[in-house]
Formats: sequence, structure tokens, C-alpha cells
Amino acid sequence: MNTTPLQDLKARYNIVGRDEKLDMALDTAIQVARTDLSVLIQGESGVGKEIIPRIIHDNSLRKGKRYIAINCGSIPEGTIDSELFGHEKGSYTGAVGEREGYFGAADGGTLFLDEVGELPMTTQARLLRVLETGEYLRVGSDTPRKTNVRIVAATNVDIPNAIREGRFREDLYYRLCTINIKVPPLRERGMDSVLLFKMFAMNTAAKYHIPEPIRLSPEGEQTVMAYKWPGNVRQLKNVVEQMSILEQGVQITPDVLYRYGIIAGQGESFALSRVGKTGSEGGRHDWENEIKWLANAVLKLRTEVDELKKHLSPEHTKHSPVPLQLEDMNNAIHIIQEQEMEEMPQIPHVYTPISAPHSVSSQPYDEIEEVKEEDNLNLEDMEKRSIIRALQQSHNRRKIAAQMLGISERTLYRKIKDYGIEE
Ligand SMILES: Nc1ncnc2c1ncn2[C@@H]1O[C@H](COP(=O)(O)OP(=O)(O)O)[C@@H](O)[C@H]1O
Ligand SMILES: [Mg+2]
Repeated sequence: MNTTPLQDLKARYNIVGRDEKLDMALDTAIQVARTDLSVLIQGESGVGKEIIPRIIHDNSLRKGKRYIAINCGSIPEGTIDSELFGHEKGSYTGAVGEREGYFGAADGGTLFLDEVGELPMTTQARLLRVLETGEYLRVGSDTPRKTNVRIVAATNVDIPNAIREGRFREDLYYRLCTINIKVPPLRERGMDSVLLFKMFAMNTAAKYHIPEPIRLSPEGEQTVMAYKWPGNVRQLKNVVEQMSILEQGVQITPDVLYRYGIIAGQGESFALSRVGKTGSEGGRHDWENEIKWLANAVLKLRTEVDELKKHLSPEHTKHSPVPLQLEDMNNAIHIIQEQEMEEMPQIPHVYTPISAPHSVSSQPYDEIEEVKEEDNLNLEDMEKRSIIRALQQSHNRRKIAAQMLGISERTLYRKIKDYGIEE
């Protein structure tokens, strides 16, 4: 049988799906691979962004050189410049030896900056410089060094919005997205969800020596296609793995799917979900999403409140960063290339709802003028509880807990420390 180059590519990288928009993303990746243009990959969390930079590197003239993938959201703000650009001996307290940094290490190769929207502003300035001139400074040095690195970045953040809010440099955005690759959400990919379901069912059966993979009934297929998959392929994979273990030998009907929160027409993504609306819809609840959405809304609101406080009282802006513990740094430095396959927690079937604090309203965040201390306490309490719950459900795996809460690992570290949460 003749196969097309795109089919070959999918087979080589275990990519499942026939959606045209996905094909277009893969096609663009192949076409730009042999150039040195910077690429920005955009798409919601869990859509499958991480395979694209790998495809680009493997099909480029740089394939014999290093491919380094870095999750910008998981490196503490205090060390990120030194991680990326290196440092000189003694350049800051604790900098015992010198360090090359990823820009030096990846010379001639490709650097994948995942969650690039999480980069602190100072790091963004350094990144812009190296993109424009090919030169960078190690922390504590004023001697420019040369490097020849191809940058591929990814984000699930709405960067134009981050620019408007002053969290991302416009000039860096335009420099990064010379080529823009959009990976579509799963809910827009038609039959792909069913194809992926089958593939994950087969893989899980093989992995756990289950005699027969789970099968979707025709109505089950309709439900899988009509559900909105806010966590995209990652969520689908997680659900199929759980069902494969707990529902062996059972045909997967809409009733079974319902017990896992998979309900036709439901599952709005956070970006689409609405603040202030109650979780009930005809008496049906999608608690897992509700908890995630609520935790997310509370955390966002807290960040806004913190920002507002800083703005109102200048002494807040002067605080020096908390010194980092070695253990924290080791945990946080996360090179995806060496990371094990995604491990997701077993989420129990029955989700305990948490009720929305009244201060989460439909009012846009930037219009919140005054935050009463009482509301603030409620929010803190809610937030702390959400974090503890996510840590419990993820068995203290911070990366997973951060994903469940929809925040970066760095923010989670800070919150754990701020609240004195014991793990
Ligand atoms: N089209 C696909 N075919 C097979 N597996 C996929 C596909 N898209 C995503 N995955 C799997 O889904 C999970 C999440 O993908 P990932 O690239 O980590 O998402 P993102 O970086 O966009 O959040 C990974 O385990 C990945 O292997
Ligand atoms: Mg990712």
C-alpha cells in the first residue's frame, strides 16, 4: 500500500488523527524544518504541542546536534536566567562553579522553550537579544558570547492578551512567531477523538496485559465526539486508561462515560467557561471540570489581588526574593527530553464539589476596585484547600498538581511556600 509523507510521519511519531487542521500543523512543521526560522506553537493544554519541535529538529540540518526542551514554567524565577544563559563563578550567592546554560549547550542545535508565556520580563529581554544578535551574556558577565540556536517555542497562553496586560513583550512575540503553528483543540477534530480512544484503549490493554481492549458502543462514540474535552488529548488518554482498568470487558456506553464526567455537549474549556454561572445544568454536574475551573478562577483572582496590592503600596514591590532551597531547584529544573511519559493521577469517580465563593463574580478582573479583607480570607482559604486537594489527588506530584490547577509549577511552589502547606 502506498503511503503519503504525512502518513509516514504520523506512523513514525505515533500521531493519531485525520483532521485537516492537524495535518496542516504537521505539514507546516515539515516545511519549515530545514530553515532556521523561529517557530511559535500555539494551542490549548493537552492538544499535542510537544511533538512538533521534535519533528522540526529531526527533519532539520541540525538533527545531529543537541535538542534541548525546557519548560519555562517550572524553573524558579530566581534561577531561570542562569539556567538558560549560564553564569560565572560567584555571580550570585550559591553560584559555586560556572555554568554553561542551555543557550551555550544547544549551540548548533534546537532549543524548545515550552510554556514561553511564563517567562519573566527580564528573561524575555535577554531572549530577545539572543534572537536578534545571536549573542548573550552569562549572569555576572559582560562579555558577549555567540551561539547558533534555533528556537521553537510553545504556549497555551493567549499572548496578545498577555501583551495587553504587560506580561509579555510585543517585540519578542513578533520575533518568536516568524512561523506560527496552531494545534487545534480536540473538540474541533471530528472523529479524531474516537480514533485516539481506540489507540489509547489498545495501548493500555497491551501495557497492563488486559485480554481485550475496551470498546465504544455507537452511542458512546457519539458522546466522545460531542464532549468538549477541555483537557484535550491528555484528558482523553487519562480517561481511557482509567476505564481500561476499571471497566474491563464492558462495552463503553454513554452511561459508563457519564460516570467519568464525559457528557455530550459538556466540558467547556476554562477559556470559554463563565465566571459566576453555577455548576448545575438540569441537575447534572461535571464536578472534575467544575473543581478545576473554580480552582483556576480563585488562583487567577488571587494573582490579581496580589498585583493590585503591589500597585497600591510601593513597599510590596521592594521585597527581596525568598532564597531557594536546593531541593526546590532540583525539583523545578525540568528538561522534558529526559522526562518520563505523562503520568496522570487516578481521579476518583465521585468528585466532591466545592461551592463558589461569592466574591468570584462575573465582574472582569481588571474592574475589581476594592477587595474586602473578609473576601480575601475566603479566597485564601479556598485557594489553600484547592491546592491541598490537588496535591492529595496527585500523590504530591507537583507537576501534575499544577496541571490540575491550571497554573505553572513555579506559581504552585510559591503558593505552597506562602501557605506553609506540608506535603
Ligand atoms: N495526535 C496525537 N496522537 C497520539 N497521541 C497524542 C496526540 N496528541 C497528543 N498526544 C498525547 O497526548 C499527551 C499530551 O500531549 P502534549 O504534547 O504533552 O500536550 P501539550 O504540550 O499541548 O499540552 C501526550 O501524552 C501525547 O503523547
Ligand atoms: Mg506541554
